Amino acid sequence: MAYTVSKLTDYSSNALLKAFGEAKLAFREELRGASSPAGWKAVRDRWMARKNGILTQINDRLMAAPKEAKREIGQYLNDLKQFVEKEIETWQEHEEGSVGKLAPLFQSVDITLPGIRRPIGAEHPVIKTTNEMVRVFQKLGYSVADGPVVETDYYNFEALNFPPNHPARDTQDTLFIAGQQGKAQRERLLLRTHTSPVQIRTMETMRPPIRILIPGTVHRNDPPDASHSPMFHQIEGLAVDTNITFGDLKGTLDHAMKEFFGSSVKTSFRPSFFPFTEPSAEMFVSCFICGGSGRRGAEPCRPCKQTGWIEILGCGMVDPNVFQFVKDNGYDPKKVSGFAFGMGADRIALLKYGVDDLQLFFQGDVRFLGQWA
Ligand code: DAH
Repeated sequence: MAYTVSKLTDYSSNALLKAFGEAKLAFREELRGASSPAGWKAVRDRWMARKNGILTQINDRLMAAPKEAKREIGQYLNDLKQFVEKEIETWQEHEEGSVGKLAPLFQSVDITLPGIRRPIGAEHPVIKTTNEMVRVFQKLGYSVADGPVVETDYYNFEALNFPPNHPARDTQDTLFIAGQQGKAQRERLLLRTHTSPVQIRTMETMRPPIRILIPGTVHRNDPPDASHSPMFHQIEGLAVDTNITFGDLKGTLDHAMKEFFGSSVKTSFRPSFFPFTEPSAEMFVSCFICGGSGRRGAEPCRPCKQTGWIEILGCGMVDPNVFQFVKDNGYDPKKVSGFAFGMGADRIALLKYGVDDLQLFFQGDVRFLGQWA
């Protein structure tokens, strides 16, 4: 029922408190009940109209009050007036502002409206691939290590047995940080071209035996195309212990590839060269797309270029020259041996998901990336 100003007979403080409290409450209820601009204007006028508005009516009542109560009633009335004006003002500002159009301030929440859905992100296909590979090696007892993307010449090259001016440096189209000429060569900064520098960084801080996997971002001065990007991802592995042999390398990688690609894949190792491993090899897996036949029905198999084999990584036995750089932390090349490997996470993701353009991974188009949600 709409609020009307009651006649007071009791002017005690308690009675006044109650009466004004009721008026406040009633006003608030009315304002809340109004769901349109016309509605709240009507409430405003009913309470604030100079002529016969509720506040005016209360003011008139003040006249009839006994002298002793007038002061107190005056205070209550002032307080009520301020309250009403303030509420009306807030409401008006809200109405006029852009928010007001969407959510009137005093309107109660409509629980029948659909909620606001916060879409959860999807794992990026390269990160997903990396995480899957990491899990395979974690089950073999490997832990994860990482290192800086902006690296020194020492860690990226020198300590990996690429001496200054060695031609093997040319195979890694390096992006150098500008303004480093004043420094000694080994201190000059560059964007790491591979995750291998973390091998050294890890061996500097952890004594053997170690088994680590190093996923990370690397950069090379390659113009972007369907299979190249100046920024890409590698996953590096390193195992050092006493009596590690090439047999351990083959067994570990063969097992890991079967875990990752499926138990029917075979591995093949072919001689290669890396400055930091001796001997070095490239490892291929039998094509998991055509099953190694080189053909898909009547069509030639493109991912393996009809060879039935796909190159996955570079690997080898850690070169004793590399151990020399971390000898003091327990890596005496006469006592320990180890193997290392490094693979391109993006390339594996491309093959795994049948994506034909590497650039799609880095353009941030949610229509593409959403497919992994
Ligand atoms: N760092 C090499 C590259 O980026 C990949 C690599 C090859 C890493 C052999 C290794 C390895 O650890 O043993 O081309």
